[in-house]
Amino acid sequence: MTLPQSVRDDAAAVEAHLQTLFTEMSGPADRLAAAMRYATMNGGKRLRACLVMAAGRLAGGGEAAAGLVEVAAAVECLHAYSLIHDDLPAMDDSDTRRGNPACHIAFDEATAILAGDALQTLAFGLLAAPRAHADGGVRAALVAALAGAAGIDGMAGGQMLDLEAETRPMVLDEVRQMQAMKTGALIQFAAVAGGIHGQADKAMQAALERYSRDLGLAFQIADDLLDYDSDSATLGKPAGQDADRGKASFVVLMGLEPARKAASDLITGAEAALDPWAVGAVADQTAALVSIARFAIERRS
Ligand code: IPE
Ligand code: IPE
Ligand code: MG
Ligand code: MG
Ligand code: MG
Repeated sequence: MTLPQSVRDDAAAVEAHLQTLFTEMSGPADRLAAAMRYATMNGGKRLRACLVMAAGRLAGGGEAAAGLVEVAAAVECLHAYSLIHDDLPAMDDSDTRRGNPACHIAFDEATAILAGDALQTLAFGLLAAPRAHADGGVRAALVAALAGAAGIDGMAGGQMLDLEAETRPMVLDEVRQMQAMKTGALIQFAAVAGGIHGQADKAMQAALERYSRDLGLAFQIADDLLDYDSDSATLGKPAGQDADRGKASFVVLMGLEPARKAASDLITGAEAALDPWAVGAVADQTAALVSIARFAIERRS
């Protein structure tokens, strides 16, 4: 499936902004800058960035407020950091990412660890900088939301549970929690951050939370399905790793078809959350969010 032009334009705009950020990066640690750039500017789908942009425009009544692209760039930097560390030998030990050698292969492990660290702080710096939003309260809310999504109750905590899932059996609810934390939290942040940036009212913010919670979980179920039934060349990263490591996943615990159905049901729920905004001034933004949700489970990589 293809995404609407507006979503592809958003991805291109964030790509260009990231490019500028890395071009402007200077200082003596140029090897570190090169590793950060390598691991970020390497063809990611930019799905999280597109969520920020579409949700931000939804909250802004159809317009993207100044600085929204900074938030989108921040979430991609945080995501790139999470992938660098996820691929390290101590974690998934994956040699390829986005069709290229993983950061620790192209550089070395120590540089990859530092590139992840510095991308994470770059993400927070982007949110805290005045050009992200004129209102300091909004910037603080964005920083707090990303801290929650990336830390012990979100991505990092989920990655801990994911490592444990290789050595201890888990029941479905535990797998659901692990997936929601390791992947869902950052995807949820992306949509919610768009709402925070556009100062959405309570009803819209609650809808974005519901939409992105379901989407985040469905996204990781789709990732597990692709790990199971796709190949490394198509994915641009090693396939079959979860099964090789005996990792508990939706696919293992439910079976292929029930896992597909669970992902599809979650996307139906995600779309339903946005129903009140399906017509009227922001219908295009709602349609963009709906298409991103469908793409999350229909994608082939
Ligand atoms: C991959 O995320 C890692 C997971 C959280 C499952 P994406 O599939 O969004 O990766 P890129 O950014 O497009 O490479
Ligand atoms: C990674 O999950 C989630 C992150 C927080 C990076 P996976 O280990 O399944 O992601 P891939 O399959 O390597 O992209
Ligand atoms: Mg992993
Ligand atoms: Mg991995
Ligand atoms: Mg995976």
